[in-house]
Amino acid sequence: MSKLKAAIIGATGLVGQNLVKILSKHPWFDVVSLFASRKSAGKKYCEAVKWYRDYSLPDDIGEIRVECMENVEGSYDVDVFFSAIPSDIATYIEPELARRGYVVISDSSIYRMDDYVPIIIPEVNPDHLELINMQRTSRNCSGFIVKTSNCTAAILSLSLKPILNLTRIERIIVSTMQSISGAGYLGLPSMAILGNIIPYIENEEEKIEQELPKILGLFCNGKILPAQFGISVSCNRVPVYEGHMINVFLEAKSEIDAINVAKAMETFIGLPQKLNLPTAPQRPIIVRKEPDRPQPVLDKDALNGMAIVVGRVRNDNISKRYLKYVVLGNNMIRGAAGTAVLIAEILRAYNFL
Ligand SMILES: NC(=O)c1ccc[n+]([C@@H]2O[C@H](COP(=O)([O-])OP(=O)(O)OC[C@H]3O[C@@H](n4cnc5c(N)ncnc54)[C@H](OP(=O)(O)O)[C@@H]3O)[C@@H](O)[C@H]2O)c1
Repeated sequence: MSKLKAAIIGATGLVGQNLVKILSKHPWFDVVSLFASRKSAGKKYCEAVKWYRDYSLPDDIGEIRVECMENVEGSYDVDVFFSAIPSDIATYIEPELARRGYVVISDSSIYRMDDYVPIIIPEVNPDHLELINMQRTSRNCSGFIVKTSNCTAAILSLSLKPILNLTRIERIIVSTMQSISGAGYLGLPSMAILGNIIPYIENEEEKIEQELPKILGLFCNGKILPAQFGISVSCNRVPVYEGHMINVFLEAKSEIDAINVAKAMETFIGLPQKLNLPTAPQRPIIVRKEPDRPQPVLDKDALNGMAIVVGRVRNDNISKRYLKYVVLGNNMIRGAAGTAVLIAEILRAYNFL
């Protein structure tokens, strides 16, 4: 099978760099074009980027000249665009690319709640890809947009999927500890976060509360029926470099045993594992038995950052219907770039690409 031509928009950013890293050695995709703002355009990628990964920038990609993508101009010899740009720019770039017939896999939050745009976590809801056909018909174009979810919602929904295979959930309460890389390269001044915790992340709680029922919803008669559980989220920014940790408290409809939940999580596999896709981790959920795991420093790179790590799965003293656990995931890989590439692989496997 010949390789597909991939372009990255926002290639100089934190998510963009993770896309470069994952795609640089990919068996199905070749990175042919890199886009960023006017500030970076015209420079070689190795000159434009402040490379932060502990992995050398691949030489061939470093030599690519960054192009400007502040507007969609001309046509591109590209099969798939990976978009990792701020939402205000994605608002007009992504639909315009789709209108011109391109496939766009996007990490930005804009359009995630559009009725015809699927938010895909490949192990959780690959059936939602059906929405692509509705999107193409309703917009009358062959191109389309697929979204990754908010990074915390990606980690959370993956951890909840095996539980939903066991029982219905009445209510979920979530408290997050989110790393500074979640805010992008220029996101937070060090003066604001070093030695500190900020108990607020703009729009984050709303995104998680809206996206989770859509991701975990049922695809039925051409639309998604949102999952029916209550959800309340409180978000905190903590002085951790990479990896979001989430404390989850949930109330099930009926009694639920923590041991069975841990077993269901560690044996859980989804479509990417069944199809043996190149970026799929062997197991998407690792369950640690030690009482002091997961930890960002030790667990953020589990299975190349594609596995989430769960710990402290236990019942609550109040009722056997209550369960609590902690989950950690790599916000830039499982929460963005890695999931975007896994989506591209599923699209290829299902002949959307
Ligand atoms: N960081 C995470 O953990 C994470 C997780 C999930 C989703 N996301 C989403 O992913 C997207 C990228 O996040 P990030 O953390 O990588 O941000 P970032 O580090 O700030 O990078 C932003 C990228 O967008 C480019 N850009 C900025 N303005 C532009 C313009 N006018 N035209 C074209 N390109 C422009 C930047 O290029 P220059 O270098 O040339 O300015 C840079 O490559 C955001 O929508 C974010 O919400 C991030």
